[in-house]
Amino acid sequence: MARILLGISGSVTAYKGAELAREFIRRGHQVRAIITSGGQRFVTPLQLQALTGHPVQSDQWETDRPDGIDHIFLARWADIVVVAPGSANTLARLAGGIADDLLTTTLLAFDGPLMIAPSMNTKMLLHHATQANIDTLTGRGVEVLESEEGELACGETGPGRMMEPVRIADHVEARLAERLDYSGIRALVSAGPTFEPIDPVRVVTNRSSGRMGFALAEALAERGATVRLVTGPTALDAPRGVTETVRVMTTAEMAEALGERFGECDLLIMAAAVADWRPATVSEDKLPRGEGGIDLRLEPTADIISDLAGRKGDRTVIGFALESGDLVAGGRAKLERKGLDAIAVNDPTETGAGPESGTNRITLIHEDGRVEDLPMQAKETIAHRLLDAVHTYVTRSRG
Ligand code: CTP
Repeated sequence: MARILLGISGSVTAYKGAELAREFIRRGHQVRAIITSGGQRFVTPLQLQALTGHPVQSDQWETDRPDGIDHIFLARWADIVVVAPGSANTLARLAGGIADDLLTTTLLAFDGPLMIAPSMNTKMLLHHATQANIDTLTGRGVEVLESEEGELACGETGPGRMMEPVRIADHVEARLAERLDYSGIRALVSAGPTFEPIDPVRVVTNRSSGRMGFALAEALAERGATVRLVTGPTALDAPRGVTETVRVMTTAEMAEALGERFGECDLLIMAAAVADWRPATVSEDKLPRGEGGIDLRLEPTADIISDLAGRKGDRTVIGFALESGDLVAGGRAKLERKGLDAIAVNDPTETGAGPESGTNRITLIHEDGRVEDLPMQAKETIAHRLLDAVHTYVTRSRG
């Protein structure tokens, strides 16, 4: 089941966009729709809302909605976007990068697969301007579906008729299947901080929102992997599509939960910000504040990833590291010391890349010495780029 965002633009075949929404739902997908102002002359938002079960908007300025639906939400939500029908004007706006309504702003913020089913008069379709726009979009990786030949609403005969909804749905499903490049892989992901108790209420911890690990778990599930997530305390809901989410508190509990599942996995991604020390003694009672300070003796926790990598066999083990000095030298030393296949390094002092940020920038160091830069992006997008970059390891470990 996929999350499909359907864009309906102004064409007499807009009603077929509504049929397409019904077809996706019949096949078990979730659908949200955006109608352009032209599209609304042919179908109403209410019709589509009734079909999809979600509110339908066209105006990007309607930001005071209680459900908070905006272009960023929709761009993050969708696995794939399908514009059907795609009018000549919408094709032109997309080709030109214009962002003047909800559909076009959402598409500028979306970097997943985009498919467009053109629908227009034959002369408009064959016009140099439209053909140049189609070439631009195709060159950018957009899939512009063939239109069908036949009698058009305007009475002319020729290409320009929108592909039938059932065939569009087949294309979408084929495209979604291509993305299942982790299918058959059993992935284990760790996320979040660990808490090491001082007493029943105080802890020693690392700053971490858990978002990077949760985004990786969700991206792996979207791409067909069976995913088990072991997470320290976070405010996040279990990611979509994940088989098991195990919530732990301490480093020892995280080590145990991962150790139990490691034998049954092909890939471990250790995105957790594990606490490096724990109090040598834990008070059973809450320590009184008293007048003065306290002395806290800390002892090291077990290095989970090193222990697991020591018995990795054919498995792929990928670590994360926070380095504030020389990222490459520090990351490479850690990769070697811990016996990893790759390590994703980031600098917590860089704006937008900290442990609680929604974005991240990663320097990915491979065991064979290659270094790749994944530029600053939302953690959800970085997760996919990271999976693209380490895919060869996973196929290798499966022979
Ligand atoms: N890690 C782990 N167990 C620990 C500490 C870290 O498994 N007790 C893992 C992290 O999940 C991460 C990798 O090791 O994937 C590197 O973590 P990092 O904190 O950068 O490295 P440390 O070994 O803690 O080194 P240092 O704190 O000296 O930078």
